[in-house]
Amino acid sequence: MAKSRTFTMIKPDAVENGHVGAILEKISASGFKIVAMKMTQMSKTDAENFYAIHNERPFFSELVTFMTRGPIVAAILEKENAVSDFRTLIGATNPSDAADGTIRKLFATSLGENAVHGSDSDENALIESVFHFSGREIF
Ligand code: PPS
Repeated sequence: MAKSRTFTMIKPDAVENGHVGAILEKISASGFKIVAMKMTQMSKTDAENFYAIHNERPFFSELVTFMTRGPIVAAILEKENAVSDFRTLIGATNPSDAADGTIRKLFATSLGENAVHGSDSDENALIESVFHFSGREIF
């Protein structure tokens, strides 16, 4: 099977709680190759644009406030079946529903502060990757 790519963010809660190293270790141990990565902080406009598809949802302003309150680590990951395998690795959106051993089960604190983002389709993985990275930052 051909390799494909997905986009992830280690969210502000996981950065604040010192989980970046452990999460990257788990990502690497699960067979993902990091082909782009940086620590950055999203502005309010960045977060509103990144999550625009959710702007009618009741938690939208909470999500934007959370995602802008501190640094994130953004990365592009490569593996066979990257989008689906990464969603499996991170677990359910709500950590209390996430399977044992998943990143959210291990490192997330709540539905609103769930440690990591993973793209939900190949199309969105590309859109989200170019949102955060220029061509020369992707290897
Ligand atoms: S998913 O994973 O996209 O299917 O999940 P979804 O339920 O559609 O949620 C979309 C993103 O919104 C975040 N979320 C929330 N934030 C704050 N409060 C509440 N209640 C809440 N519910 C969902 C969720 O973590 C998703 O963010 P990303 O970055 O895509 O993981």
